[in-house]
Amino acid sequence: MKYKKYLDKLESIEGKTFIVTGANSGLGYQTTLDLAYKKARVIMACRNVDKAQLAKEKILLEVKDAKLDIYRYDQGNFKSIDKFVNEINNNFSHIDGLVCNAGVYYPKANYKTADGFELTFGTNYLGTYYLLKKINPLLEKSKAKVVIVTSLTGAFASKKTKIKDNEKLGRNKIYGYSKYCLSRLCYELDQKSENVEYFLTHPGICQTNIISSDQTGLPSFISKAGHYFLYIFVHHANKACLTSLLALTTKDNQKKFIKPRGPFAISGLPTRKKFPKYSNKEVVEETEEYLKGKQKNL
Ligand SMILES: NC(=O)c1ccc[n+]([C@@H]2O[C@H](COP(=O)([O-])OP(=O)(O)OC[C@H]3O[C@@H](n4cnc5c(N)ncnc54)[C@H](OP(=O)(O)O)[C@@H]3O)[C@@H](O)[C@H]2O)c1
Repeated sequence: MKYKKYLDKLESIEGKTFIVTGANSGLGYQTTLDLAYKKARVIMACRNVDKAQLAKEKILLEVKDAKLDIYRYDQGNFKSIDKFVNEINNNFSHIDGLVCNAGVYYPKANYKTADGFELTFGTNYLGTYYLLKKINPLLEKSKAKVVIVTSLTGAFASKKTKIKDNEKLGRNKIYGYSKYCLSRLCYELDQKSENVEYFLTHPGICQTNIISSDQTGLPSFISKAGHYFLYIFVHHANKACLTSLLALTTKDNQKKFIKPRGPFAISGLPTRKKFPKYSNKEVVEETEEYLKGKQKNL
C-alpha cells in the first residue's frame, strides 16, 4: 500500500466507525481502503451493491481483517437516503465520522435525479444536504466528524448565482457551483453545530473514474483522452484522499480546510488552512426555500 508511512503517522482510529459515500470507486474507494488499513470499520454507502461488493473484495485482498459493511445509498434519490439513514439508525448507535464523497461531473444532457433535480446539482449538493440533515441527530449524539469533499472548481464558481437559478448553469459550471454550495454548507454547519466538527477537503486533481463513468456526457474521445491524461499527469487517488484521512484523524480543529500542498493545490500531500472566504454566506435557509418552492418540504 502506498503512503503507508504517512498513514502510520496519523492518529489511531482503531475500532472507530466511519461512513464513506461513493466508496466503490476513485477517492471513496481509496479512503475506505486507508480507513480499513487504520483498523476502522467502514460503512460503504454505494448505489450499486455489485460494484461495492467487488470493491470490498479488492480491499480484503490488501487488508485481510477489514471490517466493511455495504449499504445501498443513492444520493440522487431522497427516498433512498431516508432508507439508508433509517438502516444506519437501526444498526449503529454511534458513528465517528462521515465522508461526503459521492459525486458526479458532466452527466449526459438533461439527466435528472429521481426527485426531478438537475443531476449534478441534485446529486452533489442537494443529496449531500439532505443526507446531512437526516443523519444529523446521530452525528450530534456521536460528536462525529464530517468531511465534505469539494473541488478546486468551487473557488471559480459563479458566486452571484442563487440556488433557485442552478438549472440556468451549463453542465460544466453547475459542477463548480455544486461544490461552491457544499463549501458554504460546510462552513455554515460548522458554525451552527454544537457537537459535530465539519471539515472541507479537496483532493486537487487526481486519477479516478470521474470523467469516464457510465453517466458521463463528455464525448467519448475526450472522456478517454482525459482519463489517460489524468493517469499520466496528476497524482493518484491514494495520495489525493489523504486530505480526508487527515481530517478524520486530526485533533486540530482550528484549520478545517484541507487541500494538497503543491503549486495551485493541484497535487501533493495535505496541508491545513482556515475555511476559504467563499464559504461565508447563509446557505441552509436558501436551500430550504428552494426545496419548498419545488414542493419538497423535507
Ligand atoms: N477526481 C478528481 O480530480 C476530483 C477533483 C475534485 C473533487 N473530486 C470529487 O471527489 C469525489 C469522488 O469522485 P472521484 O473523482 O473519486 O470519481 P469516481 O471514481 O467517479 O467516484 C464517484 C463515486 O460517487 C458515486 N456516485 C455518483 N453518483 C452517486 C449517487 N447518485 N449515489 C451514490 N453514489 C454516487 C459513484 O458511484 P458509481 O460507481 O455507482 O457511479 C462513485 O462511487 C466527487 O465528489 C468529486 O466531485 C474529484
